[in-house]
Amino acid sequence: LHVAVLMGGWANERPVSLMSGEGVAKALESRGHRVTRIDMDRSVAARIAEAAPDVVFNALHGVPGEDGTVQGMLDLMGVPYTHSGLATSVIAIDKQLTKNALIPHGIPMPGGRIVKSAELYERDPLARPYVLKPVNEGSSVGVAIVTDASNYGNPIRRDAKGPWQEFPELLAEPYIKGREMTAAVVDFADGSRALAVTELKPKSGFYDFDAKYTDGMTEHVCPAQIPAEIEKLCLEIALRAHSVLGCRGCSRTDFRWDEDQGEDGLFVLETNTQPGMTPLSLVPEQAKYIGMEYGELVETIIAAALR
Ligand code: DAL
Ligand code: MG
Repeated sequence: LHVAVLMGGWANERPVSLMSGEGVAKALESRGHRVTRIDMDRSVAARIAEAAPDVVFNALHGVPGEDGTVQGMLDLMGVPYTHSGLATSVIAIDKQLTKNALIPHGIPMPGGRIVKSAELYERDPLARPYVLKPVNEGSSVGVAIVTDASNYGNPIRRDAKGPWQEFPELLAEPYIKGREMTAAVVDFADGSRALAVTELKPKSGFYDFDAKYTDGMTEHVCPAQIPAEIEKLCLEIALRAHSVLGCRGCSRTDFRWDEDQGEDGLFVLETNTQPGMTPLSLVPEQAKYIGMEYGELVETIIAAALR
């Protein structure tokens, strides 16, 4: 196959996407495919048309590679592409729209509300501790946990550094204490399957950008050492989220679990439609756990795009 690997772009997650894209491109080359690497800029449509690939592997993360914009462009061009399509991407990139879509299907997610960042200087939107996050970023870009101990004063001081300085609106969610876990779903020829549950144990603080991409900063426990019924529930929920949202190829659903509350303490934070494919990324790790090498995973995702 001739595969155009779309990567980079101008999102905050550009460096992550370049790592994902390079990993995918190398794996495809080593398996005998022809690869065109395309670092996305505003002339991307013309460059894809010129390359005329059989399929685009979308290795972009964040906006506009993960929010439907690139998907709509490729639909219009009639070029097959990996991962979720336009409508799914529009919903899944937005953490509030994702709640609206998944909660009615019995998927437990924390309540939340959108707040104007400027309002945070007037009052706390929720009881502390709570989490502030941009609705449409990935890799924990712009995430802050506001605790009683946060030295912001009450309310947040205007000179305090945080995502409220960069993002005009934020999603405020109650902080769920407990454990951080994730489960990938991959579409195989005979159907979708949740691969495994991984627990993420950052050496310090939370599973933020540095903890995600610095080797040694987070312990990945796969399979997670959790009770069998919680593992089963995570796998079921990840599969249901993938299906309700209409994901394609691959997705990864992230969880928090407060073990003191048993099954009632399990919450979905979000479903990622363009999960990372970097050397420290979780989907390739779970694939390996079920006996699927990185290159095979890439080919499986591509096969789903061509069915
Ligand atoms: N947003 C990053 C790439 C992930 O979900 O893996
Ligand atoms: Mg994400």
